[in-house]
Amino acid sequence: MSFTDPIAPPFRPAEEVCRAAPQHVAVIMDGNGRWANARGLPRTEGHKVGELSLMDTVAGAVGAGVGYISMYAFSTENWRRSPSEVRFLMGYSRDVIRHRAQQLNEWGVRIRWVGREPRLWKSVIRELRAAEQLTAANTGTQLLLCVNYGGRAEIADAARGLALEVETGRRKASSINEKSLARHLYAADVPDVDLLIRTSGEQRISNFLLWQLAYAELDFVDIPWPDFGREALWKSITAFGRRQRRFGGTN
Ligand code: IPE
Ligand code: IPE
Ligand code: MG
Repeated sequence: MSFTDPIAPPFRPAEEVCRAAPQHVAVIMDGNGRWANARGLPRTEGHKVGELSLMDTVAGAVGAGVGYISMYAFSTENWRRSPSEVRFLMGYSRDVIRHRAQQLNEWGVRIRWVGREPRLWKSVIRELRAAEQLTAANTGTQLLLCVNYGGRAEIADAARGLALEVETGRRKASSINEKSLARHLYAADVPDVDLLIRTSGEQRISNFLLWQLAYAELDFVDIPWPDFGREALWKSITAFGRRQRRFGGTN
């Protein structure tokens, strides 16, 4: 970036936030287009500002001690958008990953790509792989970039993996259960989502992390993604800390 980067490095929020920090936060970064249109700008301008929201939010997660943060950047359904918007989102994702990987590395973040290869631009995959390699040894917050990700696609891919094991005689069909299916998810070692945040006021899941959200606490926030950042994340985490989770049991 040519101008002075407005993103402050990670710092620790109030003790109350750190105490409430969940292991895994998932974020549906929504509302870029509407944010831009409300200002008489093309939708793409909202995506550009969204880069800063992404970085500030990740800094907030690092500061609060969140273990994993999953960011929904491009869904398997987003291919339905106009060719020009898809082209912009692909090119911009590639550039953001390339330009931000080093900064995230300095913050101790480990970057991982979660999603499907088919259709995704080769250049995007290349940058994702490079960022994964660069940050592979980091032990801080893990940033799961969900690019060309769909919850149903992930479950279908896991089912195919299990079927292949049965077909090749490495597994009995009767041994398939929740645990074995979960082991075939894209990031099998990552714990279930504790807190899901969706910005922009829409109250839906849009095919995000369907398996991992089973017992997540949901927070639908009324601000568009370009206006989101670490303060809003911390507010959400604080509210999460006051929720009572029962997981089907009683307390
Ligand atoms: C989120 O903002 C970014 C992506 C889905 C890639 P949108 O582009 O969905 O913006 P709205 O929801 O139309 O305002
Ligand atoms: C979900 O947002 C996908 C991402 C944020 C990447 P969408 O804007 O695509 O979701 P819908 O179409 O409103 O459900
Ligand atoms: Mg949207």
